[in-house]
Amino acid sequence: METVHTLADLQKYVSKIKAQNKTIGLVPTMGALHAGHLSLVQSAVNENDVCVVSIFVNPTQFNSPEDLKKYPRTLERDAALLEKAGCHLIFNPLTEDVYSKKDLKKTFEFDFGGLDTMMEGAFRPGHFNGVVQIVSKLFALIQPDRAYFGEKDFQQLAIIHRMVKLMNFEVQIVDCPIVREPGGLAMSSRNERLSPEERNIAANIFNILNENANFAPGKSPRALAESIACKINKVSGLRVEYVEIVEQKTLKIAENWENPAVVCVAVFCGKVRLIDNLKIDVQ
Ligand code: PAF
Repeated sequence: METVHTLADLQKYVSKIKAQNKTIGLVPTMGALHAGHLSLVQSAVNENDVCVVSIFVNPTQFNSPEDLKKYPRTLERDAALLEKAGCHLIFNPLTEDVYSKKDLKKTFEFDFGGLDTMMEGAFRPGHFNGVVQIVSKLFALIQPDRAYFGEKDFQQLAIIHRMVKLMNFEVQIVDCPIVREPGGLAMSSRNERLSPEERNIAANIFNILNENANFAPGKSPRALAESIACKINKVSGLRVEYVEIVEQKTLKIAENWENPAVVCVAVFCGKVRLIDNLKIDVQ
């Protein structure tokens, strides 16, 4: 496994792989890797000649400088995990190589077609502009045949699909299922900030989603969302930011159960903000 930090070294590597007609599978990450990331890497390794993992804590998608500063940076540990998982290349650039000063000053513009107006888009203004900005740069630089994203970030994934369509990238986006801890908590780099007690409390989020998904279609999506929010808020140590039931394809608020839906939540466990989701298909 190699690690490159500069755009020049990355370009050399990509040109060599392309000249050999080999396929590239890309897993974009911000590091602090966990089993969820490693499952994406496993798929990328299995389905492509070469697996590239980018590790870059992208400043333009953070809402607060404090959050950006606190984000765990664990390159050595990540590299050891990736080597074991069969990754071929880590791309770990410096911010100044990726962004000009001008890039960092103004918000990247993208036509989200309404996909960003609710949930993460509403509570983290500008977040998805930063995500599209970095992922489009990575796609242009690495020219992957396939790119792997986790379904835990359901709204991000919908936006990436739109971006690929609008920008005509020739990459297949592979949606990968959520990986959960044995108690049900969705794997996330943020889980490292939970105490062992908080981890147990946070497991209630998925358990409540799972138990209540069975109540569809007996309740309207709105009533079900309200009831889930109420149950999560009743758990001491959890505080709901949002519970929304949206259509899987359009992310529009589901008014009935005609189309496959997904319940998406953001919940504070102590000071740590967690997101999770569960698909509901009553057909
Ligand atoms: O999902 C993430 O970790 C990030 O949003 C991504 C896709 C790596 C872009 O920085």
